[in-house]
Amino acid sequence: MADADSMTGTPPKTDKRTAREAVGEGTGPVSRINLGLKALLRDNPWPEFGYGEIEPFFLALDGNGRGGREIIFDTIRKRNIQLMVEVGCFLCGSTLQWLRSSDKLTIIGVDPWDGNWAAYIERMALDPIQSRSVWHLGDEQVATIVANLRRHGNFCVAMNNVRLYKQRFYPVRRHSPEALSYLHVRGIVPELIYIDAGKHRDDLDAAYKLFPNAVLCGDDWLWPDEKGVLRMQEHVKAFAAEHGFTVQSSRQSWLLIPPDQAPGEAAKG
Ligand SMILES: C[S@@+](CC[C@H](N)C(=O)[O-])C[C@H]1O[C@@H](n2cnc3c(N)ncnc32)[C@H](O)[C@@H]1O
Repeated sequence: MADADSMTGTPPKTDKRTAREAVGEGTGPVSRINLGLKALLRDNPWPEFGYGEIEPFFLALDGNGRGGREIIFDTIRKRNIQLMVEVGCFLCGSTLQWLRSSDKLTIIGVDPWDGNWAAYIERMALDPIQSRSVWHLGDEQVATIVANLRRHGNFCVAMNNVRLYKQRFYPVRRHSPEALSYLHVRGIVPELIYIDAGKHRDDLDAAYKLFPNAVLCGDDWLWPDEKGVLRMQEHVKAFAAEHGFTVQSSRQSWLLIPPDQAPGEAAKG
């Protein structure tokens, strides 16, 4: 498989520092063999699977297209984002949305893809609110998805959904925030990080500490926890106040705008 850098002819989206600086180590010999996207793919390969033998599908947890993700699409396009990290890909419905928004975009998808989501999808299809995400699918299609998840597991089913984008998608089966450090020591420098995982503040802190120039954005702006607290919104607002960012939000989506780039139209969150 071609590396994204060699495919697009654009400069490698990796760190220009020396290997030792990139891994942040003191003395000791440092190998460059772990640096960059090629090495990432070598160590995080796509699973062996009969791609195309099961039906791919589109299932994004974005309220049936009403999650406000336009602010993210706009940013990808306007800022010509070429390397993005998505934290929390699920069945890669959102990943498909980003990939389709720009053919220059390469995505590193961070998700453990562990457990099995078959029962979750079955329940989702019956839930009055959550079922919006599967409205576009027929009952038979939902039943097939559930059966395929039981048979092949989350990872293969998710990868089958993005199989046409194999050249532009790098799966990393790890947990954030550790996964962000894992990318950092490999000299990988994302230009945008989208967070849609555990609603934890530490994902945001790690993303900013490791990749201070990356656009930070994500989902769950209006997601209430069991006490009705909009947990991610609280984290994002506190983070923004501490670091002087402005928050732009639209429905479930949020985007942090650094102090030096705050445009007039960005609404304070
Ligand atoms: C709400 S779903 C993501 C939905 C997806 N972005 C979409 O719109 O279709 C949350 C995902 O986060 C993943 N996840 C949970 N904790 C995580 C962590 N610490 N690091 C990375 N992914 C995590 C879960 O496995 C799950 O796939």
